[in-house]
Amino acid sequence: MPEAPMNHLAIIMDGNGRYAKSLGHPRLWGHRKGAEAFERTIRLCAKYGVRVLTVYAFSTENWKRPEEEVSGLFSLMVEYCTKKLPTMVEAGIRIKFLGERTRLPQKVQDAVKLCEESTAAGDKVLVQIALNYGGRDDIVRAARAAMQDGIAPEELTEEKLSSYLDTAGVPDPDLILRTGGEARLSNFLLWQAAYSEMLVMPVYWPEFDEPHFLEAMEYFQKRDRRFGGLTK
Ligand code: FPP
Repeated sequence: MPEAPMNHLAIIMDGNGRYAKSLGHPRLWGHRKGAEAFERTIRLCAKYGVRVLTVYAFSTENWKRPEEEVSGLFSLMVEYCTKKLPTMVEAGIRIKFLGERTRLPQKVQDAVKLCEESTAAGDKVLVQIALNYGGRDDIVRAARAAMQDGIAPEELTEEKLSSYLDTAGVPDPDLILRTGGEARLSNFLLWQAAYSEMLVMPVYWPEFDEPHFLEAMEYFQKRDRRFGGLTK
């Protein structure tokens, strides 16, 4: 197992729609299968000692999708946040949401709150679900909050600004993995990705399973992380 442990894995879960289409199903069917892959991945993180898993579930740009797909995605999330809650609590999973909440439908806001409160004591894996999240929006909201707190310009350091981001207190991702084959960050964790390794896998997200997870772990372990310094 790992020499350099992967503490934080972040995933852009792409390819649900294409997976569904390839099998002649509607896109929402693909998202449902994607939610199953998400659940499998939480278990894999627990099994292999990954302490933080961050997933991109709904971006600030995803509102542009057809209303039916948007509301279907929200219903799926509410269903997961309620039905799967006892299993999550039992497994020591802590769930936190990243993103701007006030635009979310009330039933989603309620489910988010319930999920965070019920899992607050979980200490095995922290799962951060990015929902109505955009990296630029995260930075703008952080800057606004710092200004509202009366932080003077000369007091604003990288550490200070980080402490206002949705991810405050959580180490940056070691690896950002994108499934579905496209090499884009799509406004995900822009600030936090500064020194993350990146891996694009051709597999559609609903197909993601243990062999892919292990491939990603192995890829990460082979990296020589220098954080801008020189090779030893
Ligand atoms: C991208 O695939 C995926 C999304 C926009 C939604 C991701 C959501 C899930 C996997 C469900 C998560 C569920 C919970 C409970 C957090 P796409 O639709 O862009 O796929 P495509 O590129 O093939 O069209």
